[in-house]
Amino acid sequence: MSARLSLNAISKRYDSEGQQVTALNEITLSLDEGEFLAIQGPSGSGKSTLLNICGLIDRPTSGNYHLNGIAIAQLNEQQRCTHRRQMIGFIFQRHQLIPAMTVYENIAYPLLLNNISPKKIRYEVEQILTTLDLMQRRKHLPKQLSGGERQRVGIARALIKRPQLVIADEPSASLDHQHAQTGLQLMRELNQTFSASFLIASHDPLVIDHCDRKISLLDGRMDDLS
Ligand SMILES: Nc1ncnc2c1ncn2[C@@H]1O[C@H](COP(=O)(O)OP(=O)(O)O)[C@@H](O)[C@H]1O
Ligand SMILES: [Mg+2]
Repeated sequence: MSARLSLNAISKRYDSEGQQVTALNEITLSLDEGEFLAIQGPSGSGKSTLLNICGLIDRPTSGNYHLNGIAIAQLNEQQRCTHRRQMIGFIFQRHQLIPAMTVYENIAYPLLLNNISPKKIRYEVEQILTTLDLMQRRKHLPKQLSGGERQRVGIARALIKRPQLVIADEPSASLDHQHAQTGLQLMRELNQTFSASFLIASHDPLVIDHCDRKISLLDGRMDDLS
C-alpha cells in the first residue's frame, strides 16, 4: 500500500505573543505513490510544520490537503486519528517514545493497536531489533538509552507496521554514519517492497542524496530542486 499526497496553497500562521508568524506560505506540492522526497531548509523554515500537517497532527490555516484523494479538512478529529494510526509512521526529531515502556514495548505498541497476533508481533519486533542493533537494549527504558539508540527505537516503531506513508523529521540527527545507513536501508526496503511513500526533512547530505526528489523551504516558501 502506498500513499499519494496533494497540497494546494497550504499556509500556516501562528499567533505568537500578539505577533503573526507565517510558518508556511502557499505551499503547493504533490507526492506520488512510492516517492521518496527530501525537504531541506534552515532551522525555522517550516519543515516540521509541513510534516505535521502532512501527517495529520496539525491543521493548516488555509489551503487544501488531500491524502489518497480524501479531503482532510472534512474529517473530524477521530477520523483523522484513525487515518493517522492506520496509514502513517512517524519518526520524530525528539523521538517521543513512551517513557514507561521498554524498548520492546515501544516498538510493539503500534502493532498492538492494530490488533496483530502476539506471535506475529514477537517475530516482527525481534527482527527489527536485530537489524537496528537493539537486541541487547530490548528491556531498557528510553531514559536508559543513548540519543542514537532512542532514535533507532523511533525508526523501528515507525516502520514496524509497514505504513504506506513514512514521515521523518531529521531521522539521522543523532545517529552515527553506520546506523544512519542501516536506518536508510530499512526505509528503502519498505519503499521497494511495499511502495511506501516517504517525506523526510533533513540537513544530512547522506539522507538527502539518498532521496529521489528534493524540495527546499525558506521562510515558509518552497522551491522545487528536482
Ligand atoms: N507552535 C508554534 N507557535 C508559534 N510559532 C511556531 C510554532 N511552531 C513553529 N513556529 C514558528 O514557525 C516557523 C517554522 O517552524 P518549524 O516548522 O519548526 O521550522 P523547522 O522545522 O524548519 O525548523 C518558525 O518561525 C517557528 O518559530
Ligand atoms: Mg524542525
